[in-house]
Amino acid sequence: MPHPYVLLSAAVSLDGYLDDTGPERLLLSSPADFDRVDEVRASVDAVLVGAGTLRADNPRLLVNSPERRAARVAEGLPEYPLKVTVSGSGDLDPAARFWHTGGDKLLYTTDEGAARARTLGLATDIVPLGDTLDWRRLLEHLHDVRGVRRLMVEGGGLIHTQLVTQGLADEVQLVLAPLFVGDPDAPRLFGPGSYQGGRLRLLETRQIGDVVLARYAPTAPGTGELPHAADLHWLAVACDLAARCTPSDTAFSVGAVVVAADGTELARGHSREGGDPLVHAEEAALAKVDPTDPRLATATVYSSLEPCARRASRPAPCARLLLDAGVRRVVTAWREPGTFVQDADGSGLLRAGGATVVVVPELEERAKAPNAHLIGR
Ligand SMILES: NC(=O)c1ccc[n+]([C@@H]2O[C@H](COP(=O)([O-])OP(=O)(O)OC[C@H]3O[C@@H](n4cnc5c(N)ncnc54)[C@H](OP(=O)(O)O)[C@@H]3O)[C@@H](O)[C@H]2O)c1
Ligand SMILES: [Zn+2]
Repeated sequence: MPHPYVLLSAAVSLDGYLDDTGPERLLLSSPADFDRVDEVRASVDAVLVGAGTLRADNPRLLVNSPERRAARVAEGLPEYPLKVTVSGSGDLDPAARFWHTGGDKLLYTTDEGAARARTLGLATDIVPLGDTLDWRRLLEHLHDVRGVRRLMVEGGGLIHTQLVTQGLADEVQLVLAPLFVGDPDAPRLFGPGSYQGGRLRLLETRQIGDVVLARYAPTAPGTGELPHAADLHWLAVACDLAARCTPSDTAFSVGAVVVAADGTELARGHSREGGDPLVHAEEAALAKVDPTDPRLATATVYSSLEPCARRASRPAPCARLLLDAGVRRVVTAWREPGTFVQDADGSGLLRAGGATVVVVPELEERAKAPNAHLIGR
């Protein structure tokens, strides 16, 4: 399940186009911004573009600065990030610059596309992913097999659209260029689709020459069993809240956040908040939300430790409090160990009550860290 951090990078015209329809690539960025892109490339493990971009732009996708390449090598990294492309058809030009510049290359494709690509003698590793190309499988493969922890995606629009609509983009770096394209046949950055991510969080704005860089991150929770990029963000917030608890020898340190479906934070809480030695994180957070708030029914609750199923200190355990509040999706990093209660199964209680429970083991260590004194580590 672990994925790399996925950073989308694109430049658009004021009317939202990625390019025009002319044969030459339209230069949207300023020279200073191309240098910033070079810096971002130097900071990642892999750079990915779609086959459409390879065909349209014939890009090299290099780290151009010798100093940045030398710094990578000094850190023990390959001189260039891995170059990755995605094609369903496998119909790619073996003479394209992509294959003949920079470091290692990797093509993700379908089984059929792999058969076609293998006849072309492409200078690349080829990874077939089955009948269709599944982005989660692709990201898992990049993470687990190729060790990619940070991935920069440089287009085109079809790729960006899929990653955002599937809730897989951790960050969007958008450069707004001061010109118009005005051609309805030109490619757009984001196409039609059912977008996940809600109202994005603005991370930064920066003027670079005559363009503006805006960096965004999604905020809206996922809706099902699979964690979305924003789920990881909010769960990490819950883990950080856990680290703020006054340590106790008789109870865990836990953090919890209640987030509406559109990404609005409704409340947060942590164990023993406000000096109450008995209060649990989820209970403290829920107490701050109006129980009649209709957003609770579609909210997600993030809890660093799975909500409790049994507790001596209060009549109702947190799993029951959440169900009674109408919450139907809970994301947690750590299943409750048998330290204080045998066979604690808050997830089971929640599921029996009709809630979806998502466990994200990637953040388990972060959830455990403030509890090391309780779990013998
Ligand atoms: N301004 C910028 O920052 C920027 C950056 C990059 C690109 N661009 C522009 O964007 C345009 C290209 O964008 P684009 O949207 O046409 O192409 P794209 O997103 O680069 O690539 C689309 C291709 O990728 C493959 N693909 C993507 N998703 C797939 C899936 N789920 N399953 C199987 N294959 C999949 C397919 O390849 P096959 O056809 O081989 O099956 C598809 O045709 C160009 O005009 C380029 O100049 C602009
Ligand atoms: Zn509890």
